[in-house]
Amino acid sequence: MNQVSRAHWGGRFAFILAAAGSAIGLGNIWKFPYMTGHNGGGAFVLVYLFCIAVVGLPILIAEIYIGKEAQENAVRAFDHFDKKNSPWGKIGIWGIVSSLMLLAFYSVVGGWVMNYEFQAISNQLLTKSDDILTNYLGELITHQPLTQLIWHTVFMGCTVGIVAKGVSKGIERWTKILMPVLFILLGFLLVYSFFLDGFGQSLQFLFFPDFSKLTWSAILEAVGHSFFTLSIGMGVMIAYGSYLQPSESAISTGIIITLLDTLIALVAGIIIFAVVFSFDQSPSAGPGLMFVTLPLLFKQIPGAWIITNAFFILVTFAAISSSISLLEVAVSYASEEKNWSRPKAAWGIGIATWAVGILCAFPELTIIAGKNMFDTLDIATSKVMFPLGGILMSLFFGWIVMPKSIDRFAKATNPLTAYGLMWVTRIVAPLSVGIMLFKGVKEMLGM
Ligand code: PFF
Repeated sequence: MNQVSRAHWGGRFAFILAAAGSAIGLGNIWKFPYMTGHNGGGAFVLVYLFCIAVVGLPILIAEIYIGKEAQENAVRAFDHFDKKNSPWGKIGIWGIVSSLMLLAFYSVVGGWVMNYEFQAISNQLLTKSDDILTNYLGELITHQPLTQLIWHTVFMGCTVGIVAKGVSKGIERWTKILMPVLFILLGFLLVYSFFLDGFGQSLQFLFFPDFSKLTWSAILEAVGHSFFTLSIGMGVMIAYGSYLQPSESAISTGIIITLLDTLIALVAGIIIFAVVFSFDQSPSAGPGLMFVTLPLLFKQIPGAWIITNAFFILVTFAAISSSISLLEVAVSYASEEKNWSRPKAAWGIGIATWAVGILCAFPELTIIAGKNMFDTLDIATSKVMFPLGGILMSLFFGWIVMPKSIDRFAKATNPLTAYGLMWVTRIVAPLSVGIMLFKGVKEMLGM
């Protein structure tokens, strides 16, 4: 594809919002708090922040740079720096497979959020007793497969509908409205949580590390989550970067996206744990944490109906702005390389992924090693596939792209940053992810 016919973001701001829209999603508001709660708090947060700075940010910059320089989809982009049909392009294929596997279960969780929103708008959520509210997610997952399927279908339908419309009319238009509103609402909830009894305890839980609670498995979770939350390791940011003008800076946009993403995760954590400690809930409640704590908080607030609806609508939108990026990697590849029209690619791939997602609505169905489909996809993608994709991308960037681009990086920033980035992506990031991957997988297998 040449640059003239290729779609582009309206500008740098549009790219940052769309990429931040991809990064900020269920990973920040739903997954980060419950993983932190489950892994004992502060020490996990510290490892997570370390992974974001040392591994996540460099790989994010690498992906944006590869995409914007190549102006090609996540598979073909590797050719630009290597040779036609470069074997490195397999990383892109690996990324497409992992992003669709993630999309399959992401859409199911997005469906839970939509179901909560439906319950909220029809006034059935806040009227539940605290006890029923506390158990409602479990009830939905284990006893209501049809409800889950309906909302999984609606969520996937919205994702496909937007991607089918294309980059500027679909993705850009929506993220430009949705992301700023999400920031404002979270800011409001943060101020509110400040006045709760549990606010101080929440800060202590998140920011005072107790290293005795740290295990290798928690460290692996932190590494996997740094990939998940920044949407890296699967080519999504290569695809999004490819709609950016080559003159834009990968470093500064990468830093802004990382800061926004980290900020939102920490703010969501502070709010949720303030509620947890104020209402005597357990921080290690697992995936139900957000779904239980926030409605409990909302019930206490004047104007509860509006706040609850606003919150679940926005989480829905945050989730959709992420899921569209997961689908976009595959769709840009299929429409450019296989000559499918964009709507055909979006609907075809979307329906196939939706079908895999259906299996996630049946938790008692065992897929591999006693795990159901939901857990299998979650573990395989976050703990193995993204980190592995990330290691390979980092190596490609450090050893193949950087030698050709080092002068440009040095000119745009300074030689220290340029060489720092090169050696981090050549050795530090791949080695640390590799060690943690090895240790974590060993522990997971009980070896
Ligand atoms: N970063 C998203 C989140 O935190 O919810 C999830 C995600 C989207 C991961 C897109 C990967 C991706 F390519």
